[in-house]
Amino acid sequence: MHIQENVSLKKYNTFQIDAKAAFFAEVQHTEDIHYLISNEVWIRYPHLILGGGANILFTKDYAGLVVKVSLLWKHIIEEKDSIVYVNVSAGEDWHETMMRMLEQKLVWCENLVYIPWTVGSAPVGNIWAYGKEAKDIIFSVEGIDLISGETKVLSNAECAFDYRDSVFKHDLKGRFLITSVIFKLQKETPEYQPDVEYKDIQQAIASQALEKVSGLELANIIIELRKKKLPDRHDVWTAGSFFKNPIVDKSDYDNLLQKYPELIWWPTDELRMIKLSAGQLIDLAELKWYREWYVGISEKHALVLINYGWGTGPNMVKLAKTIQKKVLSQFGIRLEPEVLFV
Ligand code: EPU
Repeated sequence: MHIQENVSLKKYNTFQIDAKAAFFAEVQHTEDIHYLISNEVWIRYPHLILGGGANILFTKDYAGLVVKVSLLWKHIIEEKDSIVYVNVSAGEDWHETMMRMLEQKLVWCENLVYIPWTVGSAPVGNIWAYGKEAKDIIFSVEGIDLISGETKVLSNAECAFDYRDSVFKHDLKGRFLITSVIFKLQKETPEYQPDVEYKDIQQAIASQALEKVSGLELANIIIELRKKKLPDRHDVWTAGSFFKNPIVDKSDYDNLLQKYPELIWWPTDELRMIKLSAGQLIDLAELKWYREWYVGISEKHALVLINYGWGTGPNMVKLAKTIQKKVLSQFGIRLEPEVLFV
């Protein structure tokens, strides 16, 4: 394994911000991690673990060691009646992994397709889309404790998953390198009913007059929905949802409803609290299309911020502040970035 110096991070983050890392290393084998944590560069400098770079904003050059996780392989580890456990390396592409499983008639993961993350990033940000969360299919997470060098397996409960949140963003931040994720899936039976509760899915199913869909068919419906509703990350430089959907007190929502009857919401685990759509709030604040020089808000989905070419980290931070200020003054709601600022 080779530690490089002064490396551009442009191709390692989906905003394609041209920040530089003082040091850069790519982990391709688990043994690389042991070499890395005993290396002088690791000991002397701060370090940052990077997956697909789909949820990160580099606001400046990184004066430490960036470690890109590129561990690749996947295999079924156990089958118990209709339940199948699949172990997938952290560097594998999330969408490809979900599709391979569905093609093998393993279901429960169909709502979570077409998300451009790596497998190892999914437990960190606990992907949430179309009514399902990564935590619904993650059985456990395997990784290396970066202080002791020990291999550890964390159960689903130990990952402390919450909406777009987990222990890896808090107590284990920078302390644990995820090497693989063990998924718990079900073999698809003819009776299997995928989760089609999400409003957009219901509409798509109704418009196609479908009576019943398989896991793979639902995945294809969701792929089409995402293509229609979100800018294609192959064409634009973005990190997808920039802010988390805010969780607010139901009484605040009731007050807002007088003025904005179209506000949509989802329930949360706490009875009194509900989740609103940050995209809808930004849209209602008339910020869709809004642009500041080389950065701006997608005309397709107001939650998606875009780098049009020459945008920098500070440009993006300024744009995010403009949005937060406008939404706060109009709705009294503080939007929290989902994207990690570095
Ligand atoms: N809406 C607007 N204007 C907009 C965008 C959305 O009015 O510009 C309204 C629409 O009425 C829509 C509702 O907001 O029905 C909710 O929008 P959407 O279904 O796209 O969901 P979201 O809450 O904005 C979340 C995830 C997305 C995920 C979708 C689908 C977060 C932060 N984002 O977005 O994740 O695809 O649900 O379930 O939770 C991502 O992580 O990059 C991402 C796109």
